[in-house]
Parts: sequence; C-alpha cells; structure tokens
Amino acid sequence: MKKLRLGVLASGRGSNLQSIMDCCQRGSLAAEVVVVISDKPSAYALERARQAGIAAFGLEIAAFPSKGEYEQAVVKLLQQADVELVCLAGYMRLVGEALLQAFPNKIMNIHPALLPSFPGLHGQRDALQYGVKISGCTVHFIDEGMDTGPIILQAAVPVLSEDTEESLSARILEQEHRLYPEAIQLYAEGRLEVKGRRVYIK
Ligand code: GRF
Repeated sequence: MKKLRLGVLASGRGSNLQSIMDCCQRGSLAAEVVVVISDKPSAYALERARQAGIAAFGLEIAAFPSKGEYEQAVVKLLQQADVELVCLAGYMRLVGEALLQAFPNKIMNIHPALLPSFPGLHGQRDALQYGVKISGCTVHFIDEGMDTGPIILQAAVPVLSEDTEESLSARILEQEHRLYPEAIQLYAEGRLEVKGRRVYIK
C-alpha cells in the first residue's frame, strides 16, 4: 500500500508526533511523516523529527508581517513536501484561512477532552474543575472554529477523585497515543467519509 504523506504541526514536546512516527516505523500505520513544522523554533517536537531524519522547520510568527503570511509560508512548506494530510499535534494556534483552503478536510487535530465539552487550551484542567466523571480525547477534522470540526474518533477515560491535572492528562495522553494513529490509518485506507458534521467510517 502506498504510504500517506503526513505533515505534522506541533508547538511543544511532540509526544503525539513521536507516537505517529513510531507507528509509521513499526508499519502499523501506512503513512510517513515527511515534514514537521512548528511555530516555536525551540519546540522539542522539531528535535524529535530531526532525530528521525525528518525535515523540520521552526517558523516564528513574529518574523512575518501577518498571520496570513505566516500561514502561507507553512502551506508552501507542506506543499513542497507533497503532504496529503496535515496532523496538528499540540499545535497551539487557531488554523486560519490559508491552511484551510489549501487542505480542505485534510487537517486533523487531537484534543484532550470529549468534544464538544471543554474545547480550548486547557481541556484536562477544565474537565477536572467542572467535576465530570468521564473525560478522554477526540480526533477531529479542523474547520474554522476552535475545536469544532467533525469528530472522527473518541476515547473515554475515568476521572478519579484523587486526580490532579497531571494525572488526568497522563491517563488521557496514553489514549491519545493510541487513538491518533488509528484515525490516521482510517484516513490512509480511504475509510473516512465526511457528511456535514458526521464522519462515517466505511
Ligand atoms: C496533547 O494533550 C494534545 O491533545 C493537545 O496538546 C497536547 C500535545 O502534547 N492538543 P504533545 O506535544 O503531543 O506531547
């Protein structure tokens, strides 16, 4: 099977990037990460990519006249690498028009809560503070909103009374590392069909 060409955008430590690269390496994911781009040149995700021999770019948004031009530069790098699917993995920016237009329904994200509950930057903390008994993670396609796109897969974990933000995040992260490669594999197999808000798995 031809390998799906992935471009990963990450702002931080890149553990989801690592799990995707590991699955590609093991052959459990019929894909290859061909480029990693970060809005934070110091992000450890870039280091992980370089260690794996993958092209890695840090683009400081402040170096561009506008967010639009920053995104155009990101799009160019993705297109130059012939990326077929863009995976956001801890990418801490709202995706704008340039990326959405260049990759319609071809951008995925993983969020550390059961959407539509607790969108935004602090999914785990917000779930804990709200007092839910179950939380988890969501892989979804990106649209113009904040964590609002069509949902592909979700996994649930219990919230325990002794949980801290760290312990809950760790429990969710374990599921993230399993769920994201699974969703990408479904995409690689051409099994995801988006109709309005719903994603059908064929
Ligand atoms: C993950 O919890 C992910 O769900 C969220 O940001 C975090 C990124 O972690 N979007 P990592 O950089 O992949 O380790």
